[in-house]
Amino acid sequence: MVISLIAAMSENRVIGVQNRLPWNLPADLANFKRITAGKKFIMGRKSYEAEDKLFSDTGNVIITRQKNYPVAANDTTAPGLREAIEKLQKETEVFILGGAEIFTQSIDIADKLYITLVHSKFIGDAFFPEIDLTIWKISKQSNFSADEENSCDYSFIEYIRR
Ligand SMILES: NC(=O)c1ccc[n+]([C@@H]2O[C@H](COP(=O)([O-])OP(=O)(O)OC[C@H]3O[C@@H](n4cnc5c(N)ncnc54)[C@H](OP(=O)(O)O)[C@@H]3O)[C@@H](O)[C@H]2O)c1
Repeated sequence: MVISLIAAMSENRVIGVQNRLPWNLPADLANFKRITAGKKFIMGRKSYEAEDKLFSDTGNVIITRQKNYPVAANDTTAPGLREAIEKLQKETEVFILGGAEIFTQSIDIADKLYITLVHSKFIGDAFFPEIDLTIWKISKQSNFSADEENSCDYSFIEYIRR
């Protein structure tokens, strides 16, 4: 199984503020949907409760320490990252969607990182962990300029392990 992390972050590694995304980038949403179509997601309980959360129609595993945490019909819970991955063992690729706590716990076991780099600095309270370039290398990158719909320049960057 390929374990992929997918995130959008600013130049100062912000991924969220007050449990939501700090920007509006429809192009990122479209790219996210293209990359993750038909795949199952793993996410932390706080991200699952975010107003602008993204979720998979085919099923999500929500990591929480709470017993009997209520989730939607297609979704399930797991008491930790390892248990979440075990639940999806039959999948060829799963996407870990965050947030900060879950990215920090999963970057060391990930095979691939799909990062949207938003070329601006934001104030935030949730951050993506440092990407160690002695461990990760860029396998693909495309750069885009801000336009009427997307307020910042941005890049879609894929990292694989060296
Ligand atoms: N830009 C992006 O790509 C992106 C993507 C996703 C999220 N975000 C942002 O990230 C922020 C949320 O991140 P966050 O770090 O605050 O929260 P989070 O990682 O989404 O969720 C944290 C929760 O996950 C559970 N958890 C974490 N580690 C666990 C473990 N080892 N075992 C069992 N349960 C565990 C706990 O749930 P319980 O408290 O229920 O036990 C914990 O409170 C928001 O601002 C959101 O908008 C950004």
